[in-house]
Amino acid sequence: MVKIAVIPGDGIGVEVTHEAMKVLQVVNEKYSLGVELEHLDYGAERYLKDGTTLPAGEIDRFRKEIDAVYLGALGDPRIPDMIHGREILLGMRFELDLFINFRPVRCFSDVLCPLKNKKASDIDFTVFRENTEGIYVGMGGNFKKGTPHEVAINEDVNTRMGVERIIRAAFAFAKAKGHSKVTMADKSNAIRYAHDLWQRVFAEVGEEYPEIEKEHLYVDALAMMLIKCPERFEVIVTNNLFGDIITDIGAQLQGGMGMAGSGNINPDGVSLFEPVHGSAPDLDKNQANPIAAILTVEMMLDHLGFKDAAKNIGDAVLAFLAQGSMPLELGGSLGTKEVGDGVAALI
Ligand code: IPM
Ligand code: MN
Repeated sequence: MVKIAVIPGDGIGVEVTHEAMKVLQVVNEKYSLGVELEHLDYGAERYLKDGTTLPAGEIDRFRKEIDAVYLGALGDPRIPDMIHGREILLGMRFELDLFINFRPVRCFSDVLCPLKNKKASDIDFTVFRENTEGIYVGMGGNFKKGTPHEVAINEDVNTRMGVERIIRAAFAFAKAKGHSKVTMADKSNAIRYAHDLWQRVFAEVGEEYPEIEKEHLYVDALAMMLIKCPERFEVIVTNNLFGDIITDIGAQLQGGMGMAGSGNINPDGVSLFEPVHGSAPDLDKNQANPIAAILTVEMMLDHLGFKDAAKNIGDAVLAFLAQGSMPLELGGSLGTKEVGDGVAALI
């Protein structure tokens, strides 16, 4: 038996998770996977009700009892500082040491490709975003807060171990998948100490992979190239903040935020899977595109070793789009539920 903790979260997270779990249940039966779901109500509503973000001891319980966590999305206008989102999502990323944020960027059909003179096959690369360090660690503080002399500091933390393991993961993936190039993006022309570390580690670890071409780009140049010539990228490795930003560009290259899935991975432990998009509180009901959430299930099942079931989901999404079925987000007329039903029916 495989146990998955499901946290639908806030806003469209609830709706897209519903469709994603519908698809999961179909493959669960078809392939007799023995997957069992445990639904958890962590998110804005629960936080506003009793102040709970992630209960004490919950991460330890996940380590012992759960095989993977599935998260819809977090974010609610009633909690402007997103404290619940940070404590739940970043809490799991840090405490479960989910150091690989694995974000594939693949455009599934020419009609979804937003770039002039490019086609779907030009957009196919994978981002390895460092997920446990950088400016996300929350080290810093305020001095003279609220006065004209206020000082606000967030430290950008980069450790040798942390940089090395994400770079190594990117190279290992490139080698395993037969890619010929890894691109590392930093800002070492301006951020001297931390990103010089990235440069040195990239060169050193790269030596272990003589058959793989090593490319370095400053992240601003990378952002430009993602639009100008996405076909040059195969595997990109970068820090936490830059990875966050460039994967939103990546999602648009796939057709929209509703197309991008992601995995927060600890190769030796419990991993967390979530679509790249947020809770989109401005969207009305049944408008969100659940494909990202469905592709996130594909990724999770693949990670858990259910390769055939995972592939079946990916194939069903492709078939769904190939027959011309289009979610609202992609200019079509299909709502959240219709897309979920449509993909499920194709499995
Ligand atoms: C993401 C999100 C999160 C991040 C937010 C919600 C903290 O944007 O998963 O990409 O910045 O990592
Ligand atoms: Mn993001």
